[in-house]
Amino acid sequence: MTLLEIFPSLRSGGMPARLDSAVWPRDTHYDDAGRITIDGVALADIADQYGTPTYVLAEREVRERCKAYRAAFPEAEIYYAGKALMIRAVADWVTQEGLSVDVCSAGELAVALSAGVDPKRIILHGNGKTFDELETAVEAGVGRIVVDSLTEITLLSALAMDGQQVLLRLTPGIDVHGHPAVATGVTDQKFGFPIGSESAAEAVARILRQPKLRLIGFHCHLGSQIDDPDYYGEAIRRMIAEMARVRDDHDYLLTHLDIGGGHAVAYRCGDAEMNLTELSAIVEDALDAACARRGFPRPVIAIEPGRAIVARAGVTLYRVLSIKHIDGGHTYVTVDGGMSDNPRVALYGAHYSVVVANRHPTGPHMTATVAGRFCEAGDILATDVRLPADLRPGEVLAVPCTGAYHHSLASSYNSVGRPPIIAVREGRCRELIRRETIADLLSRDVGR
Ligand SMILES: Cc1ncc(COP(=O)(O)O)c(C=O)c1O
Repeated sequence: MTLLEIFPSLRSGGMPARLDSAVWPRDTHYDDAGRITIDGVALADIADQYGTPTYVLAEREVRERCKAYRAAFPEAEIYYAGKALMIRAVADWVTQEGLSVDVCSAGELAVALSAGVDPKRIILHGNGKTFDELETAVEAGVGRIVVDSLTEITLLSALAMDGQQVLLRLTPGIDVHGHPAVATGVTDQKFGFPIGSESAAEAVARILRQPKLRLIGFHCHLGSQIDDPDYYGEAIRRMIAEMARVRDDHDYLLTHLDIGGGHAVAYRCGDAEMNLTELSAIVEDALDAACARRGFPRPVIAIEPGRAIVARAGVTLYRVLSIKHIDGGHTYVTVDGGMSDNPRVALYGAHYSVVVANRHPTGPHMTATVAGRFCEAGDILATDVRLPADLRPGEVLAVPCTGAYHHSLASSYNSVGRPPIIAVREGRCRELIRRETIADLLSRDVGR
């Protein structure tokens, strides 16, 4: 008997899906029944117990990513950028692993504080912080505030307690992609002050005149999904030059340099991701060279990874609602979620892989477009994905690498409630965020 007779699926080109460790959480496998499991929990069981769509979050993956950052940057301050996914459990896990937390609103601050994060280990960002947010942050004793406008300096000088540490956000003039939504290091955009500009000099001078504010350093954030570490080296060289200028002009030494986040992750097999060892070496070399060149004492470096901590820990589960073959067109697999739980496809043209989770397919495959359920023609989750040709309504599909900027960007479009988040760890699962119900949505509708 030949291999093809034993496995006829090989003839049709229907290879079983591979669970690439670059895009799935560690400990993702097929179990004996052919179902995908993460850290010992079958995704199909989660779909049965909690319904769909559902975000699954692998706790160990988050913790291991934190450990990897700590190992690669033993001397740096590492802030987890909460905008990627700010929930109490994650705030808890990352701080237990030695990270601090970056927040950009009173809401994120409240989540961090209610998770028990030490306010001294919180940094507040935002180009449009309100008076109330600044007041709340100061009253909570937030360790650092990143100043983003001259108005903020005025407000903070009225609100701050003695010795409030602040950093000034600068744009170092580095264009990582040329896409305005994801390149925040370029000069002409809403964040920060252009490096070397009169307005940046004015901001420095104003902060230094405020007795209650203590300017400890500069901050920059270059953008998102950056896989080339050289950009960070260049940012360090430019920022150290600017720090040296402050020393020369004001006889004042800045001791901290925060180079933001933006480290790329692989959304699909083969995508480039940031190599932490290389990044760490480039940061070190750039610091050594720039500090030696300017005769400047080495500042403490801070980094703010968000996506790189949580993206790969997340998997979204959907159920197939229908399968439609358009004559001469595509095959549409419609699922029970879409752009409200994953707006990144419509927003950024992001690409994902999709895998059937309730069985290990070995038969023929088809090429399909996975469509969301929302009333927008652009509500497409993935195009040209390979799915089993015998896929049926009711089966569970899993989309990996959905831990970052999914729950946090989710909406209740079409009055469909947002999905729950279910944590998995060592064979157990538990609900971290419950599903948003129609009752939740109605409870906000208070007028008639
Ligand atoms: C100031 C700042 N720091 C950190 C981050 C985190 O970026 P990422 O999740 O890509 O690492 C962002 C994202 O927008 C940011 O604006």
